[in-house]
Amino acid sequence: MSDVLVLGSTGTTGSRVVRGLEAAGVRPRAATRNPVRPGQIRFDWDEPATYGPALDGVSAVYLIAPVAADPRPLVEEFLKHAPDVRVVLLSSSAVDERTPVVGGLPGLVRRQPGWAVLRPSWFMQNFLPGHPVGDSARAGRIVTATGDARVAFVDAGDIASVAVRALLDSEPHNTDHLITGPRALSYGEAAEIVGEQLGHPVVHAPVSTSEYQHFLVRDGLPESYAEMLALLDEAIRGGAEDRVTDTVERVTGRPARDFRTFAKEEIR
Ligand SMILES: NC(=O)c1ccc[n+]([C@@H]2O[C@H](COP(=O)([O-])OP(=O)(O)OC[C@H]3O[C@@H](n4cnc5c(N)ncnc54)[C@H](OP(=O)(O)O)[C@@H]3O)[C@@H](O)[C@H]2O)c1
Repeated sequence: MSDVLVLGSTGTTGSRVVRGLEAAGVRPRAATRNPVRPGQIRFDWDEPATYGPALDGVSAVYLIAPVAADPRPLVEEFLKHAPDVRVVLLSSSAVDERTPVVGGLPGLVRRQPGWAVLRPSWFMQNFLPGHPVGDSARAGRIVTATGDARVAFVDAGDIASVAVRALLDSEPHNTDHLITGPRALSYGEAAEIVGEQLGHPVVHAPVSTSEYQHFLVRDGLPESYAEMLALLDEAIRGGAEDRVTDTVERVTGRPARDFRTFAKEEIR
């Protein structure tokens, strides 16, 4: 098989997709703005001249859309260079067709000859350092507007395993995959498990949607982004993420990783 292009290959899911492809004996073409290793190729959403060379001779692509006010024109331009390429799009369980702007991305990908739209719930890896939730956990207090509602946190490795099957299976999946962990937990329950691993108490401080938005702005986020994140928390508070699917086991043949196992193996 020809190369598989992985966008966001240095990131949380993309790095795991690269490893999964290598384990399956397939040569990944790992896209990054700063290639330094063999197998990496320069790709920058802000430089459309990099799209064609990155896609040349590629049979499938793992696509993480750019962070832009409207990523749709860039993704459309990218797909013009990929008329025969299977596309596996990383979307989100929090996004559907009614979601402004990014809700339009799956429709672009479904025009491809083979496609899959991955709709994972919130990542377990958000509790690692470098993510606001992980950083605040280390300071002992996670603030959200989710109340005591539950989220079926999912392991990024499991998302990557589903992506690898969607990229490599002989028949394209041509479907949306709603991907969750095996159990839904409140942030309070997750904070307790994370605290056990860190060796100090971690509490969850639930606040209102507007308080959370102000908290994020004080933390340095732009107003509109803070509003969007606060509304996502509000949706969680309404029960939007309190659901568990069997996608990981059905697609990969092995069960989804549990939050406690993730915490034991990755929380330091
Ligand atoms: N966190 C969650 O709970 C969650 C839940 C559901 C869905 N999601 C979705 O997950 C996506 C993010 O995926 P991720 O967490 O795997 O990625 P990530 O860890 O945020 O990594 C982003 C990647 O994008 C690359 N990148 C940044 N700017 C770029 C540019 N201008 N051109 C090309 N590449 C660029 C970076 O690579 P280089 O720096 O090497 O170029 C990096 O590898 C988002 O779309 C988000 O909506 C997240």
